[in-house]
Amino acid sequence: MDRIASGALSALTPQSPAQWQTAPLLFQHRLHADPRFAKAAIAGLIDRYPRRSYSIVHMGEQGAGGRRVWREGDFGGLDGARVLDAIERGRLWLNLRDGHAHDAELDATMRGLFAEAGALAPPVSSYGHRLGVLVSSPGAQVYYHADLPGQGLLQLHGRKRIYIYPPRLPFLSEQGLENIALSQLEVGLEYRPEFDREAMVFDLEPGQGLFWPLNSPHRIENHDSLNVSLTLEYWTQEIRRSQMINVANGILRNHYGVAPRSRKLGGPSFYAKAALQSLWRRSGRLDGLRRAARPIDFRLDPDRPGAILDLGAPKRRDGQGA
Ligand SMILES: [Fe+2]
Repeated sequence: MDRIASGALSALTPQSPAQWQTAPLLFQHRLHADPRFAKAAIAGLIDRYPRRSYSIVHMGEQGAGGRRVWREGDFGGLDGARVLDAIERGRLWLNLRDGHAHDAELDATMRGLFAEAGALAPPVSSYGHRLGVLVSSPGAQVYYHADLPGQGLLQLHGRKRIYIYPPRLPFLSEQGLENIALSQLEVGLEYRPEFDREAMVFDLEPGQGLFWPLNSPHRIENHDSLNVSLTLEYWTQEIRRSQMINVANGILRNHYGVAPRSRKLGGPSFYAKAALQSLWRRSGRLDGLRRAARPIDFRLDPDRPGAILDLGAPKRRDGQGA
């Protein structure tokens, strides 16, 4: 049976993109039961993942002065199974970026999902697809943020709660979007607990996936289990244009003191803005506004799964520091 006959949960269809552009779309998949995505296979993927394409982040202790101290680290020579064990016992998340570029199976999976959703052909004609594998500790959180490209999430192992908010005021302002576009810091949005009243909340189980409307702010709370999810990203012509407007309006607002009045995706004002943001891109000024990479400052502790060891200065990437 390829479809669940009743209820909201069904497989992706060519109608899906039109649906998820107006409201979050919960769908079912079968990847969680596929041996290619069993935990042992994920461990194997970790084993062969290139250093430059993963980030492992420690979330710090809860309530440490109320500050969110995120530190970036290194596997420190542990194999994939032990990395999974560390994440299961620690306060960590691991992002295997650009899985489609490093693994033929992941690439085929990603293409299959977008093909199923009819998102490779008109009218959607999405492109620039990316797939990441996200492994995170029980109880881990992803703070309130919005993403600029189109986004989806598929749950493979463990359970997580995701809150999705409408992509409009007061949840998301134009200025908030512009700031993300300029700084590439997705978490700069203001969050207020009363926003939750208008959130759509999903307890995502293995075998379920979600796509949501462009720029919808969201936040995630893992349940008490190791979580393995696939993240999907895509672009369309319209998203690319909207991104150019975000960058140009942000430049006008922050560097020329002009409050932008238009978000038109065509016509003279659009092309003037397209030229402005392109000039800033080519001149390198935009890169100057964007964050420097976080230094690698810990490695996983081989003797205490889930714990980390500080790497002393000078920072080294081979896990042999400290
Ligand atoms: Fe996100």
